[in-house]
Amino acid sequence: MFRLNLTFVAVAWALLQAHLILISVTIPQAHAWPTPTKWLPHFKSQRPQRDYARRNLKTISSIYNLTVYPNQLPIFQAGGAGVPNGLFNKNVVGRVDPVGNFTDFEESVEYFFALSPLPQGNPAKAAITGYQITEFSSQCRDVAASVVYLYCSVVNPGCADHGKPLPPLKQVAFWRFDEHGAVLKYDAWIPNLNTWVESTTAANADDPQSRASAIAQICGATQTRCQGPNAQWSSVEECMTALSQKSYGSYDEAWGDNIVCRSIHVVLTQVRPDVHCPHVGPTGGGKCVDEPYPANYFSDKALYGQPTGETFMCD
Ligand SMILES: *[C@@H]1O[C@H](CO)[C@@H](O)[C@H](O)[C@H]1NC(C)=O
Ligand SMILES: *[C@@H]1O[C@H](CO)[C@@H](O)[C@H](O)[C@H]1NC(C)=O
Repeated sequence: MFRLNLTFVAVAWALLQAHLILISVTIPQAHAWPTPTKWLPHFKSQRPQRDYARRNLKTISSIYNLTVYPNQLPIFQAGGAGVPNGLFNKNVVGRVDPVGNFTDFEESVEYFFALSPLPQGNPAKAAITGYQITEFSSQCRDVAASVVYLYCSVVNPGCADHGKPLPPLKQVAFWRFDEHGAVLKYDAWIPNLNTWVESTTAANADDPQSRASAIAQICGATQTRCQGPNAQWSSVEECMTALSQKSYGSYDEAWGDNIVCRSIHVVLTQVRPDVHCPHVGPTGGGKCVDEPYPANYFSDKALYGQPTGETFMCD
């Protein structure tokens, strides 16, 4: 114990020295420190030891900034290769309730950015057009918690409704970072997603016409994008008949063998058809499958590779 403490003190001291050197090099006017911070008003004093909080906030802010249209386009087109370095670790894994778990870099990136709505891709011409991190805390180097408001509006240049505000989305998240400040693990939640979809698109799960048009859209897109070895159905009609037998689902439980799940995953067939086409096909390809609650929501040990309750704790 004693040895450990001594080592700890030595390391802390070395870190402090490193900071002092850094400060004296980068900030010649010592009286200019501390600078007022707009970004973390609840920090009473801005000590150099807390620079990781600034670093972590910057990573999260840059991630959400890439969901703002049209910043996601390069990622939509190039997948992971379009993501700036330093935001996600190559081994990132995480979960976004109620949409799914994402067990590698490409999946995580696709979820965060390729699913950010394209105005051309939805009848409401909705897109995320701004964001604000409204709550943030990072008490240690490797872990942070945040809440973001993703502000949405109509993107329809030249038309009267262009710029019309739409209801915002909220995302609550815990994050774990690697030593360079890139996200290694995340556990996020989008509350009221179903209400957001309904109020934004005027879609109504109880209305047969809404359901039919959602199914027609999925089947049309599937037949266009999932061809050759990726084909799922022999025709649009076969697809529509089969999907009409399935339950519609809810965006608050968008993780099932239903229409809602396929309406999300069909977006990703544009990015990697070989991977995502099975998710919109007859079986749901292991993604749009019925796993009764609470199977996926608490599988922390399998997802994060650590005992439940460790991943997002400060050591
Ligand atoms: C957000 O992205 C835009 C476009 O790439 C960029 O100009 C801006 O600096 C970014 N802002 C932040 C806070 O990252
Ligand atoms: C992730 O979700 C899939 C279903 O979408 C499930 O089969 C799998 O067991 C889950 N994995 C973990 C680690 O939670």
